[in-house]
Amino acid sequence: MRKLTYFIACSIDGFIGDPGGDATTMYRFVDEEFFEFLGTEYPETIATPGRRSIGIDDRPNQKFDTIIQGRASYDIAFKEGITSPYAHLREYVASRTLEESPDPNVEIIADDLVGKVRALKAEDGEFGIYLCGGSVLAGELLDEIDELVIKTYPIVLGTGMPMFGSGFAVTDFELDSVRTFKNGALVRTYSRKR
Ligand SMILES: NC(=O)c1ccc[n+]([C@@H]2O[C@H](COP(=O)([O-])OP(=O)(O)OC[C@H]3O[C@@H](n4cnc5c(N)ncnc54)[C@H](OP(=O)(O)O)[C@@H]3O)[C@@H](O)[C@H]2O)c1
Repeated sequence: MRKLTYFIACSIDGFIGDPGGDATTMYRFVDEEFFEFLGTEYPETIATPGRRSIGIDDRPNQKFDTIIQGRASYDIAFKEGITSPYAHLREYVASRTLEESPDPNVEIIADDLVGKVRALKAEDGEFGIYLCGGSVLAGELLDEIDELVIKTYPIVLGTGMPMFGSGFAVTDFELDSVRTFKNGALVRTYSRKR
């Protein structure tokens, strides 16, 4: 069984962006030390243009071979003319409005989202599935999430886009590891308690 991992950046108070979802205020915490961590342990979570610009486009994937994004998250790169933002992964975009895929590497999931994710998890393979977000998609897939990797940056937003756009429900996770960085960022990894 392959794991579905929600790998996400958030504020201390658990928001993944401003009320509209804009997360650019968090980019400044990706300094040399943090970037070294990402590039070593999670290079596949760096989007293709970023990988190309720093010359690591051929770096092998470490944890994931597949990515799932909601259409609103995919739109960020798409509006810049980038149709395959994670070309080093199999890309799935959940959307009921995108009638056809803008790129041969991108498959649209228009219906039975949970069924499709379960089928991906049931595939053989050593690599997992990177749930990129955003909030709506993570909320819909909460029951399927096996692991959380939460990059928390030392800021409080007060309000913003929640990590999960879902209703109130208590879901238990177990802490696996915490890594701290000199700039105050931390990365916590949790496994789902089933
Ligand atoms: N901090 C971080 O690390 C991080 C990471 C990722 C994203 N974000 C932020 O998250 C924001 C976007 O999040 P969001 O919650 O607004 O949207 P989202 O989850 O990215 O996308 C929502 C869209 O996904 C599609 N969708 C959702 N459920 C579906 C289903 N069951 N079947 C088919 N399609 C489905 C729908 O697209 P259609 O409308 O086309 O049907 C829906 O409008 C962005 O602003 C981004 O900056 C932050």
